[in-house]
Amino acid sequence: MAMNESWEQFKNQARLPKFAFPRRYDLFIKPDLSACVFSGTVLIAVEVVAETRFLVLNAADLAIDRDSVRFKSHKSDQELRPSEIVLVEEDEILVLGFLGALPIGEGIVTIEFTGTLNDQMRGFYRSKYEYNGEARNMAVTQFESADARRCFPCWDEPAFKATFKITMEVPSDLVALSCMPIVHEKVDGLDKILSFAESPVMSTYLVAIVVGLFDFIEDIMPDGTKVRVYTQIGKRDQGKFALGVAVKTLDLYKDYFAVPYPLPKLDMIAIPDFAAGAMENYGLITYRETYLLYDDRLSSAMSKQSVAITVAHELAHQWFGNLVTMEWWTHLWLNEGFASWVSYLAVDALFPEWNIWTQFLDETSSGLKLDGLAESHPIEVEINHVNEIDAIFDSISYEKGASIIRMLQNYLGPACFQRALASYIKRYAYSNAKTEDLWAVLEEESGEPVRDLMNSWTKQKGYPVISVKLNEHSLELEQTQFLSDGSSGSGMWIVPLTSCCCSYDSQTKFLLKTKLDINELTCRRNANKECGEGFWIKLNIDQTGFYRVKYDDELAAGLRYAIQANKLSLMDKIGVIEDSYALCVACKQTLSSLLFLLKSYGEEFDYTVLSHIISVSCAIANIVADAIPELSNDIRLILIDLLQSTAEKLGWDPKDGESHLDVMLRADILTALVKLGHNNTVHEALRRFEAFLNDSSTFLLPPDTRKAAYLAVMQTVSTSNRSGYESLLRIYREADQSEERVRVLGVLAYCPDKDIVLESLNLLLTSEVRNQDAFYGLRTSREGRETAWRWLKDNWEYISKTWASSSLISSFVHAIVWLFTSDEKAEEIEEFFASRVKPSFERALKQSLEEVRNKARWIRSIRNDRSLEDVVKELLPKA
Ligand code: BES
Ligand code: ZN
Repeated sequence: MAMNESWEQFKNQARLPKFAFPRRYDLFIKPDLSACVFSGTVLIAVEVVAETRFLVLNAADLAIDRDSVRFKSHKSDQELRPSEIVLVEEDEILVLGFLGALPIGEGIVTIEFTGTLNDQMRGFYRSKYEYNGEARNMAVTQFESADARRCFPCWDEPAFKATFKITMEVPSDLVALSCMPIVHEKVDGLDKILSFAESPVMSTYLVAIVVGLFDFIEDIMPDGTKVRVYTQIGKRDQGKFALGVAVKTLDLYKDYFAVPYPLPKLDMIAIPDFAAGAMENYGLITYRETYLLYDDRLSSAMSKQSVAITVAHELAHQWFGNLVTMEWWTHLWLNEGFASWVSYLAVDALFPEWNIWTQFLDETSSGLKLDGLAESHPIEVEINHVNEIDAIFDSISYEKGASIIRMLQNYLGPACFQRALASYIKRYAYSNAKTEDLWAVLEEESGEPVRDLMNSWTKQKGYPVISVKLNEHSLELEQTQFLSDGSSGSGMWIVPLTSCCCSYDSQTKFLLKTKLDINELTCRRNANKECGEGFWIKLNIDQTGFYRVKYDDELAAGLRYAIQANKLSLMDKIGVIEDSYALCVACKQTLSSLLFLLKSYGEEFDYTVLSHIISVSCAIANIVADAIPELSNDIRLILIDLLQSTAEKLGWDPKDGESHLDVMLRADILTALVKLGHNNTVHEALRRFEAFLNDSSTFLLPPDTRKAAYLAVMQTVSTSNRSGYESLLRIYREADQSEERVRVLGVLAYCPDKDIVLESLNLLLTSEVRNQDAFYGLRTSREGRETAWRWLKDNWEYISKTWASSSLISSFVHAIVWLFTSDEKAEEIEEFFASRVKPSFERALKQSLEEVRNKARWIRSIRNDRSLEDVVKELLPKA
């Protein structure tokens, strides 16, 4: 080590140097909730493993008390004071430079500091609530991905695991929580000093602290683990559902991972201001209110389901993420993809009647959608700077990640997969792992070439479309990279292919490793009994593979027959329409043929399938309005006709004992009919809304159908007819439940009247809307999109400052940009952002622009569809 080396060598590095690492943090924190500041002292037991005169750790937005900083090695009695203390703002690091080399071995760094309880929903921040009509602050942490450094100086990377011994000084009347239980409490005047038990080794991003006024409910597991749900005072009953899910899920994961839950307690808490949906902090999971609270009378079936999925997701992280942690953010998908996948496993066990694995195809669809863009990225993505991390919490890490895990589990079989996971967890517990470590364990357990297979899915972006042609005795298969812009990329994959012919009893399964393959038909047309009435072949059985399939005309006709004759599984029905729609957007298939295919779903009554039919229908209605306005009304009537009889059968009123899925279907289908402008539905919606205004507990408008009614109101209001709008604003202002407020926000800008759109968007910038909720209010009508774009430009400076976090600012950009459908507009938008783009939303912007350009291309292809007019005539319901 050259003693004259400068601290500047640590600037602009992706990762901290490894010559010293933390073993134990002894952290004291004292927040002041009224002044919104905090002070703290941290003693970090550090192991110096290589010669150095520096200690380099992370710190950001903190004031370091320079006189307090010292290092005491176990080897000598002498306390060393750094000769240099440098805070490098851009890199968020704190460099302590000493005059001589630090002794190899353990020592303790002490640092005192102060900071601000910010209102950015990250680091150590304040959230606001009301108690007895009075405004109050609570203090909350959100450290993932790299914001622990905003609360205390630390080695803020997932691989630097250490133990945490936390002590807090807080006002005596408040509740303070952290990852571990309280072991000691001492009252000191108006304050109390709380000591929490020392944690097992863990990563900094999982540390959490919450201080405020709360109620809780509790359950105790047979092994003594205490599970609690904390809520605002008076709302603890709304935690019951989540508590039940948590207790059952903990038990299930303990068996699935073959390792008990590692901590003595688990708290889950609803936070009124929260940037993400939920956060898996070790032993103290934080949630948005809407993702934790459930009220039988006030919540929708959809909310119930998302609470269950979210709880199961965050609990999965307690093993997959917290006990075994990704080595670096490149492997974030291991955390998120896996937790997403396994949450469905848990929810399926708890609520088999929800058919949640079929609903999982929503995840696969959004993964495929994003990954079909040229501006996608590989699952394993290089991270070179801290400001690149947040942007990868996207559909690639989550939905594609979860989908390829499902694909692999299906290929290896559930028992083998589970055994391998259990041994992976055991092997890497209290440590870190990379993607290849998981593959190695799975390969060992299964004897299959897992590494090669999976590398083709995680190291390159995109996925293939398999084109199938039917010959006399064989199927001809060809893989090319699918891209939504209609081009074909150069990617190649090892594809676990499955197919079945005329029945699910005759299945084939093999790995497609080459570009082309010929597959002997297992059944002969007209020869097999099953094929008697109609011949069909379905590839990618139950959509377990992360790819699309393009059938030749004859096979496509066979599938239309199979759908009509109800021969296909729900998942396969979803797969056929999803692939067909995507191929249509990519201009590989005509809109005429897509409309024909949709017609074969006319008898469908299942939520899981119809939710996809509905989203395809709404997308078609939107694009034709721009592409072929002269046919758009007829197409609208065709789409209404497709949904109407099912909607009539369901009706508006809940039926005794009906299924969870029917309740969700009712909500979806009525909303769709309102969006499609179906007169009867709109009128009935308005009638029920009136009844609801007179009596908010009316049976005529339960939470599930309320969104449809609110949307209908917004379809009919205008500046000269504001009363419905005013009523919705009043409902928003008076609602005590976050779900209801979000429901109203979600429709306010979905209005044909541009002035109303502007008024609603402006509301998002006021203190009436919490920053966490503003993005719900960005859903704008086609008619309102120009207004919305102008509004975004006019307010850009304020918006980009206020919603700086990656996911929030990305949602602002995407919500408004993706509505457009022309190349000229894409250009204009690009120009505006040229000087304003930041890493936090750069990818989201590029992806949104790509979507716009793809739609422009799609429009051109629709205009060239010569058969469309005749097809529309043919499909038009006869009056
Ligand atoms: N670890 C994430 C929370 C997170 C997201 C932190 C982005 C930092 C940046 C958490 O486990 C998560 O995935 N939450 C989801 C909900 C879940 C049900 C998919 C979320 O917040 O949307
Ligand atoms: Zn997660």
